Amino acid sequence: MNEKGVVMTGDLLQNLDKLHTTDMGAERIRRNLDLQTSNVVGWCKAFVEQADVIIGQGKNWYVYGRGLVVTINAKSFTVITAHPIKCKVRVMRESDYACLPEFLYQAIFIPEGAAVPTREIINDPQIFVYIKAFGSQPGDLGVVAEQDGQIVGAAWTRIIPAFGHINDDIPELAISILPDFRGYGIGSKMLNRLFKVLRDNGYTRTSLSVQKDNPAVRFYERLGYRITEEKLDHVGHEDFIMIKDLGGSRSVKRARI
Ligand SMILES: CC(C)(COP(=O)(O)OP(=O)(O)OC[C@H]1O[C@@H](n2cnc3c(N)ncnc32)[C@H](O)[C@@H]1OP(=O)(O)O)[C@@H](O)C(=O)NCCC(=O)NCCS
Repeated sequence: MNEKGVVMTGDLLQNLDKLHTTDMGAERIRRNLDLQTSNVVGWCKAFVEQADVIIGQGKNWYVYGRGLVVTINAKSFTVITAHPIKCKVRVMRESDYACLPEFLYQAIFIPEGAAVPTREIINDPQIFVYIKAFGSQPGDLGVVAEQDGQIVGAAWTRIIPAFGHINDDIPELAISILPDFRGYGIGSKMLNRLFKVLRDNGYTRTSLSVQKDNPAVRFYERLGYRITEEKLDHVGHEDFIMIKDLGGSRSVKRARI
């Protein structure tokens, strides 16, 4: 730890030889991960070396990789537990709105080999409209995914004059997951929850726009979206407009979150 008590990732990587666990810890980890090895500590050391991301939070390190998370006490270097990533998905609260700029930025598709845009890109009015004064209009609905107290993903809808707008009865989706947490089913879990929130608020359809070459097109199709239109967006990208039928009939209930 540094003098402010903040856990530094480097401390863990430089002290791997100090990793240890209890007999109960080893048994728990073997059981949770269905590990066949008797050398649980050796397995954990290799896992830390190959981790996608290590987050120091409170008194622990959380080490993520291959859809798993290993929890290590930062003071004693004891491996406490390990389990598959299991994000909690919940309805977005007003206190979560502060994270929307980050998730809006993460939602921007960067084709392979293309330059990574700076964060200022979200100030483009055509992009900023997805979060401007969020929570103030009907159709402003959302969910977040939380892992060990950290928000790692967000999905939200709005009825705004944006690119995927169809009409005022169809809220348009925006979604992203932090890069190290993609591909573990968190997006699917968030969307299924958001569909329920939309239905509970009386909506029967939701729309989106997505660049044709974004792998997320497959993800949306798997979740029941269908392509309804193809068009060029404001900067000339080829996009699909997609719609998902949520089932049920439209009611007038329009509570806000
Ligand atoms: C799209 C996204 C929200 C999906 O969430 P997820 O938790 O990764 O998705 P799941 O694990 O439930 O499903 C995996 C699917 O997500 C998509 N996906 C996975 N990694 C991705 C990535 N880096 N970028 C875009 N889509 C990705 C793929 O379609 C994948 O399905 P496949 O394995 O059949 O190719 C997430 O990957 C993401 O944030 N991507 C970058 C931002 C983005 O493209 N947002 C959509 C803008 S329209």
